[in-house]
Amino acid sequence: METPLSKHLWWQEGVIYQIYPRSYKDSNQDGVGDLPGIIKRLDYLQWLGITAVWLSPVYPSPMADFGYDISDYQGIHPLFGTMQDFDRLIGEVHRRGMKLILDLVPNHTSDQHPWFLESRSSRDNPKRDWYIWSDPKPDGSLPNNWLSVFGGSGWEWDEPTQQYYYHAFLKEQPDLNWRNPAVQEAMFSVMRFWLDKGVDGFRVDVMWHMVKDARFRDNPVNPNYQPHMATYEQLLPVYSTDQPEVHELVMKMRHILDEYPERMMIGEIYLPIQQLVTYYGIDGKGAHLPFNFQLLQLPWDAQQIAAAIDQYEGVLPAGGWPNWVLGNHDQPRITSRVGKEQARVAAMLLLTLRGTPTIYYGDEICMRDVAIPFEEVQDPQGLNMPDKNLSRDPSRTPMQWDNSAFAGFSEARPWLRIAQNYSRENVSAQQNDPGTMLTLYRRLIQLRQQEPALMTGEYTPVYADKQVIGYMRKAGGADAFLILLNLSHRPAYIRLADEQLQGTVELATYPELEGIVVSGRINLNGDEGIIVRLKADQHS
Ligand code: NOJ
Repeated sequence: METPLSKHLWWQEGVIYQIYPRSYKDSNQDGVGDLPGIIKRLDYLQWLGITAVWLSPVYPSPMADFGYDISDYQGIHPLFGTMQDFDRLIGEVHRRGMKLILDLVPNHTSDQHPWFLESRSSRDNPKRDWYIWSDPKPDGSLPNNWLSVFGGSGWEWDEPTQQYYYHAFLKEQPDLNWRNPAVQEAMFSVMRFWLDKGVDGFRVDVMWHMVKDARFRDNPVNPNYQPHMATYEQLLPVYSTDQPEVHELVMKMRHILDEYPERMMIGEIYLPIQQLVTYYGIDGKGAHLPFNFQLLQLPWDAQQIAAAIDQYEGVLPAGGWPNWVLGNHDQPRITSRVGKEQARVAAMLLLTLRGTPTIYYGDEICMRDVAIPFEEVQDPQGLNMPDKNLSRDPSRTPMQWDNSAFAGFSEARPWLRIAQNYSRENVSAQQNDPGTMLTLYRRLIQLRQQEPALMTGEYTPVYADKQVIGYMRKAGGADAFLILLNLSHRPAYIRLADEQLQGTVELATYPELEGIVVSGRINLNGDEGIIVRLKADQHS
């Protein structure tokens, strides 16, 4: 059982904030965000209460997939700055008592990476086996039916060497062959390079893709495929992803981290929850936090979300620390999915559940998905696919800092257009206004970080119906909290099993309700969420 006395580590107690560096803050007026820009905004993050920053890739890259196609794992792309800027960033982050998490992209490199240039130069190059090469089938057709996540076949023909190579994403992102020990060693030394610099952890890109079936068997047809789905979903990727051997690799990566004190590893893994939790590894020697994306994927429905929370709590392995994610650079923004009122309820959910929360930049000021005209689409996932709605550009637009031209992001026209509403929805307009989303986020984070029950305490479900989710957070000896969230726009009546229960509303999505005393019979407004303090001597 967790008690305030048990020792929790920074990544269990903290709040992670994802920065998409292209879009955070531009310091050299080229329309693209950069590391010196991020440094300028660290005071803001500290003010907000953020304890760890995760940066999407800042390495040299031809930018076919905006940095997820890396051509040098140990450098900084000049667009983002220099290695000196990076060293300054890590120093400034640490000086503020915060942590820095880097994106590690081990599944694939850029096709411009020297490793791949060598690998494709000839069939007998020593690095040939660093990537996944295959002959055509005897009849000349593709090696198998594996599809690329970004559309079309996963195999690309290499004319000069007369073989196919495999790419789970773009053809400019060839997959590394992780069955080759030399590849493993090369990536482990990349990890050590950054850990030696003092980086506190990695978010590992597409961890579940890293190993493929040794026999390259065909993936089966997905019986639930619907025409509106991405073509990748036509097949079930049972042989191209989530292979048993991946866990050995994750364990080896974990070993590298364990050579250093208190470093951590997040795994980006889109899998059903029972498979997801296997990435904690045997005896917890896998990923510290396999990203839990349920809040991004489930319909915004109280019963379904309540069940998912309980299911997740139920399947977590002993010692496995939970985590919750509400947005990232690959998904629609929460405010666009559920609307502004419910986005406040969602913030309360994210910051009161048990487990480490990850906030996506801009969600704290209610940024919305921005409509990007056809001719301005930049994301390869939008450009390659017949369905432009799959483009991820809308959730990657520049951060809205103030109401000046280009939202205080840059003095030059940004690489992606800015939301039209930026003159109202921006940090400076929201910072000193008690009713804003930004104030709500800041207060939620403060409360979470001050209260042992909310930060690391136990979770107990107490209520769920078609509209409302209710749960308690408790830590021995400290005040407990009852959280009630109305996930609908309509008022709701609630009768808790313990009608005698009494407490004071500490924080509410409608701040005017704070301070009122509530009991086990409560009615909530539509879109209302409340955090009720239950005095330590009043609950068992
Ligand atoms: C997951 C990343 O989050 C996404 O942005 C990227 O396109 C793919 N991995 C490929 O690296």
